[in-house]
Amino acid sequence: MENHTEASWQMEYDFAVEVARKAGEEIRKAGESEIKIMTKSSTVDLVTKTDERVEKIIIGSLKQKFGEDAHSFIGEESVAKGEPCILTDKPTWIIDPVDGTTNFVHGFPFVAVSIAFAVNKQLEFGVVYSCLEDKMYKASKGKGAFCNDEPIQVSDVKDIHRSIIISEHGTDRSPDKVNKIFSTMQKILCIPVHGIRSPGSAAVNMCLVASGSADAYYHMGIHCWDMAGGAAIVTEAGGVIMDISGGTFDLMSRRLIVASSRVIAERIAKAITEFPVGRDDTEA
Ligand code: IPD
Repeated sequence: MENHTEASWQMEYDFAVEVARKAGEEIRKAGESEIKIMTKSSTVDLVTKTDERVEKIIIGSLKQKFGEDAHSFIGEESVAKGEPCILTDKPTWIIDPVDGTTNFVHGFPFVAVSIAFAVNKQLEFGVVYSCLEDKMYKASKGKGAFCNDEPIQVSDVKDIHRSIIISEHGTDRSPDKVNKIFSTMQKILCIPVHGIRSPGSAAVNMCLVASGSADAYYHMGIHCWDMAGGAAIVTEAGGVIMDISGGTFDLMSRRLIVASSRVIAERIAKAITEFPVGRDDTEA
C-alpha cells in the first residue's frame, strides 16, 4: 500500500466531497417523488429506499475509486442489514447516507450526507453536505474547516447564559427515557440559556456549532455514522468534543457533547441525566 504520511489523504478527501455532492443530488431528486417510509428500531425510527440506495452509491463509488479491499466501511444501512460495526486501525469510511431521515420524509430542510474517514481510529477528515440547503461543510485534520469553501469557526461565546444549545429527542419513546431527556433539557433551560433547538440531523447540528450559529450540541443514543463527519468538522473549527460525562470522546460510545468552549461543554456535562445506550461496536 502507498505510504501515507500525516495529512496526505487529499485524494480521498477531495473524492469524498465529490461523492457527497452526488449523493445529495440523488436525495434532492428523490424528495420530489412520493417517499415510501419503513421503520427500524421503533415506529418513529424511519428509513426509506433512498437511504439504502444512496449508501450503495457512496460505497460503490469509493470501492471503484480506491479498490475493493484497501479500506473498510461502516455505513448506517449496511450495519442495519447485519454488517459489522467495528472500528479498526485500517483506513475506514464512516457513512450516513441520509442523516435526518425524518426531516427528509417531511421536507424539513436539514438533511445531510455525512462521510468521514478514520485511520488508526483517528478521524482524518469529515464531509457533511446539507443537501436541501446546498451547504457543503468539510474539514481535514490541520487544514481548517469550511462551508461552501468559506472558512468557519466556532462562536466565541464562553458564558453559557448567552448560549444556544442543540439537542434531540431520539427515537426511543419509552416514558422513562423521555423523562430523562426532558429532565436534562429542563436543567439546561433553567440555567438559563438563551434557547434549546432540535434541527433533526446530528451532522448538521455539529456543523451549526462549527460555524458559530449554535454554541453546543449534546446527545445520548446516536451512532458513529451520525457523529463522525461532524466531529471532524467541529474539532477543526476550534470546538471541543467530549463524552457526556465530561471525559474523553469515544466515537463508538453513542454519547457526545460538542461546544464552542470547554467551559460550556463541562457545564452541560454537569446537567445531563444519563441513561444506558450501549455501544456501536458491541451491538452488531
Ligand atoms: C438521526 C438524526 C437525528 C437524531 C437521531 C439520528 P438518521 O439520524 O441524526 O438528529 O436525533 O438519533 O438517528 O437516522 O436520520 O440518519
